[in-house]
Amino acid sequence: MAQVVIAILANAGGVGKSTLATHLAYEISQRKSKVALLDLDPQRSLDVFCGLESVEAPKTIVNVLSKDFKGSWNLVSAWDEANVEVCQGHPLLADVANELVTRKRGEYTLSDRLNKYPLPHDLIILDCPATLGMLNVNALAASTHVLVPIQLEMKAISGSAELVEWCITTSEELQLDPKPPILGFVPSMYDDAVAMHRQYYNQLPDIAQQLDIKLYPKIRNSNEFKNASAHGLPLQKYRARHPACMEFKQIAKDVIALIKEK
Ligand SMILES: Nc1ncnc2c1ncn2[C@@H]1O[C@H](COP(=O)(O)OP(=O)(O)O)[C@@H](O)[C@H]1O
Ligand SMILES: [Mg+2]
Repeated sequence: MAQVVIAILANAGGVGKSTLATHLAYEISQRKSKVALLDLDPQRSLDVFCGLESVEAPKTIVNVLSKDFKGSWNLVSAWDEANVEVCQGHPLLADVANELVTRKRGEYTLSDRLNKYPLPHDLIILDCPATLGMLNVNALAASTHVLVPIQLEMKAISGSAELVEWCITTSEELQLDPKPPILGFVPSMYDDAVAMHRQYYNQLPDIAQQLDIKLYPKIRNSNEFKNASAHGLPLQKYRARHPACMEFKQIAKDVIALIKEK
């Protein structure tokens, strides 16, 4: 068994990062593995997606990243699932990011925390902010793998190629060994009725092949995702028989295989 740490990265907001993070977390938790979701986004989106009350900074990941963290992780369970625990985010993460710039080993703070005070979970999912700043550098340095949701819009597609480049150069600069590979692209919010979506979706296999990155099945656009998160639930719990629930299965299968490796 190996602990897998997945950074969900994209250099744009609103592309489905938190949706992917939470739905993958739920999916894995149903396969008898323990999952920790860490909210690195100052917008603390996981509070909404997980139906949690927002809490003060000392009870969030702000504490974990603070200089004098002593190892008591702030975890709460999500959706009444014993196998999913969340370390909540907080707006002060923006200040933490600034402080990390000048701190020794600032890029490796999250990685150092996970090494010195390991979490018992099989899978750790890092829900990241949109900007490629210090928090995402920390996420990359702490990760074993990266997942990239892609919206089927022109800017998002060129942005994804830039993101791949950023992962490679940042991994080199940080001398990560091994460098966290990109597990795959996940086309998100795909609407068959939108010509542009169909057009970009058709181009994706070529783009993914050129970048040598796996392309996962698309996640459809459905208002039920929004309804589910308005109830603080993943779609699998809100509408278990919704066809979109199936669209996370292949990623989950690959992640389970990674956990079972070694
Ligand atoms: N497949 C989807 N269909 C419809 N709405 C979606 C889908 N995925 C995400 N959303 C909604 O789009 C918004 C942005 O998604 P989110 O996962 O928060 O993106 P990010 O974390 O990249 O900012 C949220 O309101 C979310 O509920
Ligand atoms: Mg988000």
